[in-house]
Amino acid sequence: MKKQLFALLFALVPFTAMAAGGGASLPHSMEPDLHDKASLQNGMKLFVNYCMGCHSLEHQRFSRAAEDLNIPQDLVEENLIFSSGLRFNDQMHIAMGSDDAEGWFGAPPPDLTLEARLRGTDWIYSYLLTFYRDPSRPNGVNNEVFPSVGMPNVLEPLQGVQEHVCAETDRQVEGAELDPLTGKYQSCDVLQVTQPGAMEPDEFEDAVYDLTNFLAYVGEPSKLHAQALGPKVLIFIVIFGVLAYLLKREYWRDIH
Ligand code: HEC
Repeated sequence: MKKQLFALLFALVPFTAMAAGGGASLPHSMEPDLHDKASLQNGMKLFVNYCMGCHSLEHQRFSRAAEDLNIPQDLVEENLIFSSGLRFNDQMHIAMGSDDAEGWFGAPPPDLTLEARLRGTDWIYSYLLTFYRDPSRPNGVNNEVFPSVGMPNVLEPLQGVQEHVCAETDRQVEGAELDPLTGKYQSCDVLQVTQPGAMEPDEFEDAVYDLTNFLAYVGEPSKLHAQALGPKVLIFIVIFGVLAYLLKREYWRDIH
């Protein structure tokens, strides 16, 4: 019986490995932290300000997010709901029709409720950090992880203009040559901010972290509740286990 159990466990290992992996070739990675309410609140603020002009969150209600992220209703109504047709209990819809959008951008901006589950948070984080100027594209920008992207670089006012330059880098990008003296790579494929935006590069990374963290929450809102429940369930199992053991001893005492 024990052997069979082990066999089953080992059979399941590849599945868990697969679920966790897959981001090896992405330029950036992040670890979502659904307990960081300040980060999630900031992410939501950035999302409604910079993304909701084009992307909806059809499966997320303002009211649910407000409750989960501890944002009072009046603050949400005053600061986070811009479209006059939307109310506190509504889903996070947008006004723009997808046919219009397809005409403007060459592709409709997809709903992002499940984006974190679809692409993974490392992908979203990398995507938002790697827009760069590319005059050959109709809207003047391109993206490292989504070549020929239709989305404009909406965060450019914050990040500034990013371009490929020749520079030293710690990271081994494609075509990079190692300089044996400095131990750094020399490459003409390094993304660098050439015209500063409103934020410093690490400030901008924090903002994009918060946005991605918020999208991780939106993809699995019940995870917050499940995680809060976890320790309680474990404590219950331990106490119940002790009681069951004491009871068993009590029953078997007379038999032995
Ligand atoms: C002006 C409209 C517009 C705004 C504002 C906008 N996007 Fe987009 N976005 C698009 C379009 C159009 C696409 C589809 C691009 C394509 O398929 O080429 C897209 C694609 C995406 C994708 C990839 C979807 C996929 O294919 O998996 C992500 C992720 C995304 N946007 C996130 C964001 C975030 C986060 C913001 C806010 C910071 C934002 N977008 C703001 C228009 C927009």
